[in-house]
Amino acid sequence: MTRQVAVVPRFGRVWRKAARRLDAAHLQYGQGTEDALQEAAWMLIHSLGWPVLASFAQLEALREREVPADAVQRLDALVDTRIATRKPAAYLMGEAWLQGERFVVDARVIVPRSYIAEMLHAGLDPWLADAPRTIVDVCTGSGCLGILAAKRWDQADVLGIDISADALDVARTNIALHAMEDRVRVLASDLLSARPEDSPRVDLMLCNPPYVNAGSMRALPAEFRHEPNLALAGGPDGMDLVRRLLNQAPRHLAPHGVLVVEIGNEREHFEAAFARLPVVWLPTSTPGTVVLVEAADLVRA
Ligand SMILES: C[S@@+](CC[C@H](N)C(=O)[O-])C[C@H]1O[C@@H](n2cnc3c(N)ncnc32)[C@H](O)[C@@H]1O
Repeated sequence: MTRQVAVVPRFGRVWRKAARRLDAAHLQYGQGTEDALQEAAWMLIHSLGWPVLASFAQLEALREREVPADAVQRLDALVDTRIATRKPAAYLMGEAWLQGERFVVDARVIVPRSYIAEMLHAGLDPWLADAPRTIVDVCTGSGCLGILAAKRWDQADVLGIDISADALDVARTNIALHAMEDRVRVLASDLLSARPEDSPRVDLMLCNPPYVNAGSMRALPAEFRHEPNLALAGGPDGMDLVRRLLNQAPRHLAPHGVLVVEIGNEREHFEAAFARLPVVWLPTSTPGTVVLVEAADLVRA
């Protein structure tokens, strides 16, 4: 009589198999992952119920770990749905990770991936007079940037603003998830319009606005069409909201305050729209994607 020995698959093999399936389906990445290998790893770790990795570089150490059959099934189902629907993986899993922090997400908000997040740890320090006490995160979406800022500066009060009531519901969930209710609040507002001008002056204003130009909106890959149009479309040159924000911001910023705006691929359009404004392009992992403006220069512009 021969005894059947169940072979428990190893992490490395399950991971590679899922990545090959994603790769063969010619999916689009850029919503929390950069390629099929990263996306398969994230889905596998989620299927296993393991805590997220601080970095994809840690994956090597997991290659020989066993993966139980039920986790393989969950992973297969995720990969099937990802391929069939082209929905972002983050929506399928109901979560996204930014700078090692977990945020709950669904189709009411874009998947967190802002380059501004990279700058919050130390990248803004040279431009700040002091630790900011009043921070506003305009276009807060899931609340991710405001929450990261509140974690970075633990004396700061943070206001997250969004025009979408749906997005603010998600932001509130994340504020509660991070136990930040005492320092992070939200406001439904068209940019800064509903923030009283006699509110405390803002030391640090962050904004990752909708900035995709009309031509790029027409060419959006399927994955990005699952995200709210309101979160992406920035008008003919992508600068509709940026123009309005730069106009409103001086009435809210402190004299030493700074405004940090994500511009993504639209640097050319930003420079055409604000040719005479002195700005600093921050050293993000993709240079030329985030611009910093000092309040004093905005007032003069
Ligand atoms: C690119 S998403 C950024 C979300 C989040 N800050 C992040 O980095 O993941 C832009 C957000 O701006 C919001 N928005 C669009 N138009 C707005 C307006 N006029 N005033 C305030 N928020 C607006 C959208 O609802 C969306 O949540």
